[in-house]
Amino acid sequence: TGMFTYDPGFTSTASCESGLTYIDGDAGVLLHRGYPIGQLAEQSSFMEVCYLLLNGELPSKSELADFTNTITRHTMIHEQLTAFFRGFRRDAHPMAIMVGVVGALSAFYHDSTDINDPEQRRIASHRLIAKMPTIAAMAHKYSVGQPFVYPRNDLSYTANFLRMTFSVPAEDYIPDPVIVDAMDKIFILHADHEQNASTSTVRLAGSSGANPFACIAAGIACLWGPAHGGANEAALNMLREIGTVDRIPEYIARAKNKDDPFRLMGFGHRVYKNYDPRATVMQKTAKDVLEKLGVNDPIFDVAKELEQIALNDPYFVEKKLYPNVDFYSGVILSAIGFPTEMFTVLFALARTVGWVAQWNEMISDPAQKIGRPRQLYTGPTERDYVPVDAR
Ligand code: CMC
Repeated sequence: TGMFTYDPGFTSTASCESGLTYIDGDAGVLLHRGYPIGQLAEQSSFMEVCYLLLNGELPSKSELADFTNTITRHTMIHEQLTAFFRGFRRDAHPMAIMVGVVGALSAFYHDSTDINDPEQRRIASHRLIAKMPTIAAMAHKYSVGQPFVYPRNDLSYTANFLRMTFSVPAEDYIPDPVIVDAMDKIFILHADHEQNASTSTVRLAGSSGANPFACIAAGIACLWGPAHGGANEAALNMLREIGTVDRIPEYIARAKNKDDPFRLMGFGHRVYKNYDPRATVMQKTAKDVLEKLGVNDPIFDVAKELEQIALNDPYFVEKKLYPNVDFYSGVILSAIGFPTEMFTVLFALARTVGWVAQWNEMISDPAQKIGRPRQLYTGPTERDYVPVDAR
């Protein structure tokens, strides 16, 4: 292999040093700045986890109040940006809108794009975290043909997002605390996950010195794929397609068949070779939300039964394929009322903090250089040009 290590998919390459997130995939452990994800999901709040990821420590009461206030003050987007939304087809996928609109933020915030100034980086990070719910809700509103709802700053980050998504002019939506709590948990569970594909994309884009808004747009583009953030949408579509418990064996057989490209969506992970600790919280939250809403969705039964069958099937056992974060999230989101097209948008909203924290960490790292992998060349050896008449 010559001078370079050939590592397709970077399965054995550490691309950076990072103090943010620790994963032990064999043990099924996920820590943010040392704190177990289960404790954060059960006891913390998304705003607090954002602060933790950005600053390294849990905030004091007043630090948390200041941080929350700062984020709240940045929730509005420039009114001109609403015109940008209107350039999309009326039935555009909200992820298509997200990629475009978040990238377009670069054109609005020239005052926070000097990446060498820590203060400007901080402001850009706050802007991104604060504006993402507004943009996400607007992407939804646009794709369903309803008027935009502007942020209300007396509500919490998560309640404000739900209200912007579900309110219509005729009726203000004030979310039930159980729903706000579940949504906040989902955000915490998606906040960061070390060097996954979209985070690596943000780092690579940022390594050239590109502005943070463009880098996050690159991350959103990467997240869209069904092997990554698109898996929650794909998982729910799969559960709906299966529909009833008696049809599960057919799909298990397809997932095991090497000649069939079908995979169990929401199953398997590059790093976790054990139960994804996020899936544990997700399953419990799904139960709480369905009970609270009095929703009796047969897909929850399909999901639980599918999980049981797979966990006891030698194929999945040998390959160490367990439910991942996306397996149950769709059940919750759909019970709350989100259309499946919004699932990956919610992932992007929550992962924004991870992306900006990782980007900040990279820029501050003295070892940082432009990311520039090499290759193993497999094309023709040198040969002489032949004029078109002689070919
Ligand atoms: N259903 C059936 N077989 C599977 C599955 C699955 N979901 N996942 C992996 N396998 C098999 C795969 O066919 C391969 O078999 P073999 O060794 O015989 O060729 C083996 O398990 C290893 O799979 P791989 O594709 O080499 O593993 P990877 O680390 O490259 O892929 C993955 C990880 C998450 C892309 C994959 O498990 C997958 O496609 N899962 C379904 C999609 C999904 O749920 N993605 C969400 C991941 S978590 C959230 C996120 O990252 O956004």
